[in-house]
Amino acid sequence: MVNNDNKLYVAHSDHPLVLEPKMANRHGLIAGATGTGKTVSLQVLAESFSDLGVPCFMADMKGDLSGVYKAGTLTKFIEKRQNEFGVTFDFQPYPVQFFDVYGEQGHPMRVTVKSFGVLLFSRIMSLTDTQEGVLTAVFRICEDKNLPLDDLKDLRAALNYIGQNAKEFQTDYGNISSVSVGAIQRNLLALEEQGGDQFFGLPEFKIDDFFVTERMHDIKKGMINILAADKLYNNPKLYSAFLMWLLTSIYNKLPEKGDQDKPEFIFFFDEAHLLFDDASKALLDQIEKVVRLIRSKGVGVYFITQNPMDIPENVLGQLGNKIQHALRAFTPKDQKSIKAVAQSFRTNEAFNTEKALLELETGEALISFLDEKGAPSIVERAKMLCPQGQIGPITDEERKKAIKESGLEREYRETEDRRSAYEMLIDEAKEKEKEKAKEQAAKEEEKRKKEEAKASSKVTKKSSNGIFNKILVPVIKSFLNKWLNNFLKTNKKRR
Ligand SMILES: Nc1ncnc2c1ncn2[C@@H]1O[C@H](COP(=O)(O)OP(=O)(O)OP(=O)(O)O)[C@@H](O)[C@H]1O
Ligand SMILES: [Mg+2]
Repeated sequence: MVNNDNKLYVAHSDHPLVLEPKMANRHGLIAGATGTGKTVSLQVLAESFSDLGVPCFMADMKGDLSGVYKAGTLTKFIEKRQNEFGVTFDFQPYPVQFFDVYGEQGHPMRVTVKSFGVLLFSRIMSLTDTQEGVLTAVFRICEDKNLPLDDLKDLRAALNYIGQNAKEFQTDYGNISSVSVGAIQRNLLALEEQGGDQFFGLPEFKIDDFFVTERMHDIKKGMINILAADKLYNNPKLYSAFLMWLLTSIYNKLPEKGDQDKPEFIFFFDEAHLLFDDASKALLDQIEKVVRLIRSKGVGVYFITQNPMDIPENVLGQLGNKIQHALRAFTPKDQKSIKAVAQSFRTNEAFNTEKALLELETGEALISFLDEKGAPSIVERAKMLCPQGQIGPITDEERKKAIKESGLEREYRETEDRRSAYEMLIDEAKEKEKEKAKEQAAKEEEKRKKEEAKASSKVTKKSSNGIFNKILVPVIKSFLNKWLNNFLKTNKKRR
């Protein structure tokens, strides 16, 4: 919740702990073993940002974040915390927009193949460097030939076409081996089977639709945008690549802002370790860069993961606001990472950080936020506030109602299949087929004409023989006869 100083009051030790709105864009981390309270802490933060008028995005892994759409109710747990903290939580619903790339639990969220880009494709299809090079060439050729790549059938058609005409493109775009094209096509098939065909296409999601506020009880609340990710989570690479695309799109949309009183937008990246598992060097560099630069555009990125050690050091080092729930120490590796996590905090003489990490109860955490000057505060052992929305999922009916009532449903429900690479290449193939047929017909016509000419020259020869036989021969014959008769007559006379 927002306190009287306009700061985010989200946890309580022996005093309220607040997150400075102007430091909220210095990113954050919510970590902890399973069941320790990460999701509820995320909800508490999201509600507080919404109270401040800041919209946010989060992926909902189990459906339990949808509860924020409804007012919460008093439980024994919450009652106990109210008494401990000396505050009363005002249960209230929050403005929510539900999205789902499969279109089942929210407005469909689509992206075109072209704007998704080669790097993320390469990531979800686990392409080798050579295959990635071929895909880069395919994207470039399509760009140069004005072939829009909207959906997966566009990409498939483009791959077929370029694969079949590889020689033609070799000089300008490099070698396009049929083996690589074949491998990409096989990966594409797998992606289609995982529902990628619903995910890629038009109308493309407009990032502006995240940046809205809604007036509730006279307060402008930031929209809480929730992506249903329970199904998407079964395809971890698609999940992480999609979230990366969203983050990059937000980055591209916003202008440089510099330091501000409060952030423009907060991006919660749940199950963040999926983003980094087997990520290529190029992708890791891109993540690091976007996280580093997006800050100056007023966007805070909060990673949620079980173990902070899952996040690469150069990203982890950028996360200034930390909520660390309990960790487990089953293996020597766990123990080592507990040491490292404890060392990442500024010590508090009042307790042993390492020990506390193992003792924390559900909804309790070690917390360090950046102070007004941007320095990390000493670590505090604190209890998180309770959400004002409902803890746990809403019913299917409630979700359906929310989706139906949102203006976005009309905008995104129906797919749009404009004339793009697939249709253009089919037409081009048909055109080529027609031309081929025309050429063939012309050749046949020529052949026929030649044969006809040959035949007619034979007829002329024959017919000239006919004239000779019919007219000349009788004339010659009669001439010879006459001459012979005269000759005989003259000879008789002489004798
Ligand atoms: N701040 C809190 N206020 C009220 N209840 C809480 C709070 N934190 C945790 N709880 C209770 O603990 C339960 C487990 O918390 P939560 O679902 O956030 O854990 P988690 O770390 O996200 O678990 P998982 O890793 O399985 O997703 C919640 O359902 C809720 O009942
Ligand atoms: Mg959770």
